[in-house]
Amino acid sequence: MSNKYIQVEQSLNLRGQASLNGAKNATLPIIASLILTDGVSQLSNVPRSHDVMCMMELLRNLGARADFIDEHTLEVDTSMLDTFCIDPAIMKKMRASILVMGPLLARFGKADVALPGGCSIGARPINYHLEAFASMGTQITMQDDFLYARASSLKASTIIMDYPSVGTTENVMMAAARTRGITRIVNAALEPEVLDLIAVLRAMGANITIRPAATIEIEGVDELKPVEYAIMYDRLEAGALMLAAAITGGDIYLPQAPAHAMEIFILKLQQMGHAIEVGAHGVGVHLKATTSPQAVSLKTGQYPGFPTDLQAPMMAAQCLADGVSVIEETVFENRMLHVHELVKMGANITSEHNRTIIKGVDQLRGAAVMATDIRASCALVLAGFAAQGTTRMTGLHHWMRGYDSLELTLQSLGGRISIVDCQDAEYQALLGQVNGSGVTASQAC
Ligand code: EPZ
Repeated sequence: MSNKYIQVEQSLNLRGQASLNGAKNATLPIIASLILTDGVSQLSNVPRSHDVMCMMELLRNLGARADFIDEHTLEVDTSMLDTFCIDPAIMKKMRASILVMGPLLARFGKADVALPGGCSIGARPINYHLEAFASMGTQITMQDDFLYARASSLKASTIIMDYPSVGTTENVMMAAARTRGITRIVNAALEPEVLDLIAVLRAMGANITIRPAATIEIEGVDELKPVEYAIMYDRLEAGALMLAAAITGGDIYLPQAPAHAMEIFILKLQQMGHAIEVGAHGVGVHLKATTSPQAVSLKTGQYPGFPTDLQAPMMAAQCLADGVSVIEETVFENRMLHVHELVKMGANITSEHNRTIIKGVDQLRGAAVMATDIRASCALVLAGFAAQGTTRMTGLHHWMRGYDSLELTLQSLGGRISIVDCQDAEYQALLGQVNGSGVTASQAC
């Protein structure tokens, strides 16, 4: 991948019907949850993104078998799972590896993990995870960036979270699912992907109740069974495709889109002037783009607020909207690095830390840009479709980590996008053009 980059040519009026993949951010905790079971499970609608491959590698590393038995169906056998030590190389590749900590503590009473480290969007600490496990009776010692967690027997606890952390909610639920007694998570995250994990845990035999307001109660059981489950469709991929049509004046139909989980995002697009029809029972969307999009403002937040993972792609659409948009990022402390790259494409954006002001312009121009996280890569591709000329984007690994062949779906809608493999000299020259951004290549987020 080192000499590969994404090339995008101006592609207006993207249109057609497209199918979606399963949600990466549901798949990762769900694969980790299989550690709680003994036997063979089957997950369908699994996206083949690099982060998912990484989680499969992690489970194999722990002694499980994990293989695709068809294009998107993953079979995992955890009956031979025999270790509780997470390979540090994998932890460094993907922060979400921390999601196996809860299941390992429930299964073995032990978990050895390397500190996952931060990435370009933030320090990404895991203090909430560790505090929660400590309150469940886990002794955690740290040595040389390695954490050694021991719990002779986990105990049910009430965990009141400072912030509704998605990963912490998921990790604690998985630990509590096999811990005798009732564990309560107060101020829990209730993102659609968290609800998908709850559905899987219930299918395994877990006893989980969601109570108002944002409290999850888990009554531990002794054994959880292997499952067959279809991962939810990816609302973030749906959002990306809707924005691809919106920013190019196109028309798109996504019959599988989980519109019921995208309400504020859809409202914002409608406020821009795009015509959106939602299918029966909140499944499926048809977007017909307006030719004169109006700028809208937004503030990211926990669900059902505006998703932080659609902030960057939505910002790309504001660059060409009439008026002024104010976008505020409240979830991550440094998730505005795509601003600099969009400005290189001619956008009129000023940032005051996590508050960004976008004044719509008539035209963007292709440029050499760098993706700094998964969702920034999406924003820059979308901007490239609207921009005059050619955009070349480095940081391909972010795109591959978060999406399963999204470039092929975009091509099917008329998008002129390709992954280019070039010689060292050309790639170095491209990096030279990009490096004006002053951003260093980022670790996985
Ligand atoms: C999940 O990350 C997603 N990743 C992220 O998607 C998503 O942006 C995020 O939730 C918010 O929705 C996966 O599901 C694999 P958090 P997670 O714990 O669990 C702070 C993408 O692009 N925090 O809800 O790491 C944290 O630093 C990725 O697909 C602590 O301070 O998110 C952040 O500021 C990016 N201490 C805030 O809470 C902790 O112990 C929200 O983090 C944990 C989190």
